[in-house]
Amino acid sequence: MRVGVLTGGGDCPGLNAVIRAAVRKGVTEYGVEFVGFRDGWKGPLEGLTMDLGIPQVRGILPRGGTILGSSRTNPIKVEGGVDRIKATMEATGVDALIAIGGEDTLGVATKLDELGVPVVGVPKTIDNDLNGTDYTFGFDTAVNIASEAIDRLHTTAESHHRVLVVEVMGRHAGWIALHAGLSGGANGILIPEVPFDLDEVAGWVESRFRTNYSPIIVVSEGALPSDGDLITKDQTLDAFGHVRLSGIGDWLSSGLEDRTGKEARAVVLGHLQRGGTPTAFDRVLATRFGLQAIDAVAERDFGKMVALRSTDIDRVPLIEGTGELKTVPLARYDEVRPFFG
Ligand code: F6P
Repeated sequence: MRVGVLTGGGDCPGLNAVIRAAVRKGVTEYGVEFVGFRDGWKGPLEGLTMDLGIPQVRGILPRGGTILGSSRTNPIKVEGGVDRIKATMEATGVDALIAIGGEDTLGVATKLDELGVPVVGVPKTIDNDLNGTDYTFGFDTAVNIASEAIDRLHTTAESHHRVLVVEVMGRHAGWIALHAGLSGGANGILIPEVPFDLDEVAGWVESRFRTNYSPIIVVSEGALPSDGDLITKDQTLDAFGHVRLSGIGDWLSSGLEDRTGKEARAVVLGHLQRGGTPTAFDRVLATRFGLQAIDAVAERDFGKMVALRSTDIDRVPLIEGTGELKTVPLARYDEVRPFFG
């Protein structure tokens, strides 16, 4: 059996661990041959391949990024895209695909499954917003990076009696902000699921200064002011129809300065949250996902996504992961409110 592997969408720490685990078990236990498809769905669409076997996956467990490359190519939007993928699979002798990605990449996998392409999905995203799985790998690494940044920002904020606003990733879901803010002891956490009132946030800032501490406010890039619009870099859409976010941190810090008279600065963590080596948690999760993905392929259990359920790795229908995003429930947000202000 020949299996094609691809990684699509924004990269995230742990992708290489998935590839390594699937290849190691696939070759040694099932005698599978692998083909690496380059740059997400662009690979099978344009026939871009690379060798993928035990030698290629040696030493990649702790390495960030993806040895296969990634892109946000959407083959469904390309004329004849699905047929081109099928033709590449035939030409390369690939019987099945392992697609590692988030809502967009696995959304394409869901469509392809419906159209008869044998595919197994592996959920990845630092945003942790895929349904059907308790966690996606990459999230823990991103939270650790953001949490360490918040620790560092506390001390410099104190020295200068400033407000520090920390903008983290999270387009539709505030999981990174929620967890990093909680673990970093933020004085306010703003997430896309709950529009915020600038005057209320200014109140938290003032109350924090009254106790002689400097406030740290963590904000998701997709957070929305209750009386305003989403702040974007520009209006250009990617192949999946997403605009480029970022800018809410600066918007918020200038709004807080105006309202409180205190100096405020914004720090945008951006791609730092996606780069570098995965945490031990993410290495273990990604490895277990890779092992389960190749098991599913060997059993011809297609149309499934591997998923963490409690401490077990299960398989769920792809549509369960991609049908609807997993956002932060209001109760989880309310739980952290005692720390605001
Ligand atoms: O989907 C993961 C993510 O990191 C989002 O949090 C963020 O909005 C987006 O990717 C940024 O994507 P890119 O760096 O590819 O523009």
